[in-house]
Amino acid sequence: MSAAEAQQQIQELSAELKQHNYNYYVLAMPTIADFDFDQKLEQLNQLEKEFPEFADADSPTKRVGGFITKEFVTVKHRWPMLSLGNTYNEQELVEFDQRIRKAIGDNFEYVCELKFDGLSMSLTYEHGKLVRGVTRGDGTQGDEVTTNVRTIHSIPKKLDKGDYPDLFEIRGEVFMHLKAFERLNKERTDNGEVAYANPRNFASGTMKLQDSAEVARRPLDCFLYGLYTEKTLFKTHWESLEAVKGWGFHVDDHSRLCSDINGVLDFINHWDKERFNLSYDIDGIVIKVNNYSQQQELGFTSKSPRWAISYKFKAERVETELLQVSYQVGRTGAVTPVANLKPVLLAGTTVKRATLHNADEITERLKLHEHDTVYVEKGGEIIPKIISVNLDKRVPGAKAIEYITHCPACDTALLRNEGEAAWYCPNDEGCPPQIMGKMQHFIGRKAMNIDGLGDETIDTLYSRGFVKHISDLYRLHEHSAELKQMGRFGEKSINNMLDGIEKSKQMPFEKVLFGMGIRYIGETVAKKLVAHFKTINNLMAASLEELTAADEIGGRIAQSIIDYFADESHKEEIEKLKSHGLQFIAEEKEVTLASNKLAGQSFIISGVFETFSRDELKDIIEQNGGKILSSISAKLSYVVAGDNMGPAKLEKAQKLNIPIISDKELLDLII
Ligand code: IVH
Repeated sequence: MSAAEAQQQIQELSAELKQHNYNYYVLAMPTIADFDFDQKLEQLNQLEKEFPEFADADSPTKRVGGFITKEFVTVKHRWPMLSLGNTYNEQELVEFDQRIRKAIGDNFEYVCELKFDGLSMSLTYEHGKLVRGVTRGDGTQGDEVTTNVRTIHSIPKKLDKGDYPDLFEIRGEVFMHLKAFERLNKERTDNGEVAYANPRNFASGTMKLQDSAEVARRPLDCFLYGLYTEKTLFKTHWESLEAVKGWGFHVDDHSRLCSDINGVLDFINHWDKERFNLSYDIDGIVIKVNNYSQQQELGFTSKSPRWAISYKFKAERVETELLQVSYQVGRTGAVTPVANLKPVLLAGTTVKRATLHNADEITERLKLHEHDTVYVEKGGEIIPKIISVNLDKRVPGAKAIEYITHCPACDTALLRNEGEAAWYCPNDEGCPPQIMGKMQHFIGRKAMNIDGLGDETIDTLYSRGFVKHISDLYRLHEHSAELKQMGRFGEKSINNMLDGIEKSKQMPFEKVLFGMGIRYIGETVAKKLVAHFKTINNLMAASLEELTAADEIGGRIAQSIIDYFADESHKEEIEKLKSHGLQFIAEEKEVTLASNKLAGQSFIISGVFETFSRDELKDIIEQNGGKILSSISAKLSYVVAGDNMGPAKLEKAQKLNIPIISDKELLDLII
């Protein structure tokens, strides 16, 4: 196949698959079988491997098919989503059991389930297809988040043939596994974003996102625990769980049938200890009467069923001594305080440290004093949290702990931006952990992925004075004799390292941009910026307004970019990197015109569109011979307007009598 043919096929397949993704995620009306979709995706994947020069960063092979929805629609629940009564001790459970016995006698069973700590979700299936996902909301009505729900792998979008009814609702809990939580939270703090406090917040924050591609990037799971149908299909809850498992739903295997309250108490005691070995958080046990007609007999209060109750675990809490508060400085200069504790056993592990989050936690919330005795609990986080201080044990005359005023690494006075919780060290040019952190980020797998170079090597190279800036890495070959003499690295590893550095010069611009470590510029944002601005020069010259006009770039990110390039030393560093041959221009995609139908016509795209991003519309126009202009003038042929077009622009276009068309009308011009 010739390069031109390959390029055309790649473009055609990408466009087709993007349309299928849109049909699937947004319209929920796929026009292609999953199998055929996967085959086309694989075909595109192969072509992109063979001709990487034509592979688009936004290709369906690299992006999970998500779309921006504009807002959530409120949906009324067919069956209200009630909550459960809570108990925290055995006595209350025994009383619950007595109430049930009084109402229905002794002949019944309980189902015990884990109480997953996430957010509840109601899924509607029609003719075996997932048609709706709705949050609990206020119990009567919730947010329709179907697009996001579709990104959860364990939720079937379409059921295999089976004996399920034409219409049913199934409810369960959406949650995030602890490992994913740790990984993604680290990614957030690495990018200078605020960490989520626990997996539940992360899961519910994720479900409320408007960008389903971002939702898809954050792996969520869902356990189902309740079936709702017009006609009763099963005699017991247990049977219904077995059945829905057979229909393809993710049902937790830890549930048990218990013949009496003693069995329930055994189950609770077992999980009170064992819960720490699960890969997700649970906050208790749910106890349900198994038989549906007995459930009906017991009925509901206004808020919750009388046939079920939840037993909430007490968080395991221990007392220990605060030895010292230490401070870590990240690559962005943010300072994080950490409590060093006298080692103590908590929930099966020895705890030596606790997070303190920020200065207010120390001086306002906990009012920590030296050698305080503190209560420590383990929540969703792997690192535990200090809950409070045992004031009875405060050492008389102990000094209050004051937050540091100067950087623990370089002694520069710390600063705090208005409205932000974290103090930071502004000495990004001279503060060792920041310098090393930035280089470690640059060489990391997700950025330049430099073979033969790891975090410890950066430490050594920095402390021996070989590298101080990223650009110094590209002059390291000049020092190969000294490196060899140092005796710290073998000849082979030095050569590997230098080879890896040399090869990294071919990494695409978006990786370089991400690697530069600008605050708030994560991987996805870097891709968006490169797609929009194409070159570093365009990006550096962009105004706040031009930056926020790019797809998904908000004011906070735009300001961070402006601040970064306002610093002369950053510009000098970029010039050096350019001179070493790093990529600062988007990979050129030779545009083969899809048509010439827009030749001689010029366009401005303004506002937000439901179906396409602005960059996608721009590509459509350019691929059909049209031109994009940056401001409205009499020469302009059309304004392509979405929602929320600026009123000034609208007025100007109307004054000049320039036709204002929708994205659909634009497509009509090229069909
Ligand atoms: S059954 C009528 N089963 O706990 C209530 N709920 O406080 C039906 N939850 O909103 C709920 N695990 O978000 C049920 N195995 C489980 C659960 C569970 C977690 C959550 C759910 C519900 C809340 C009730």
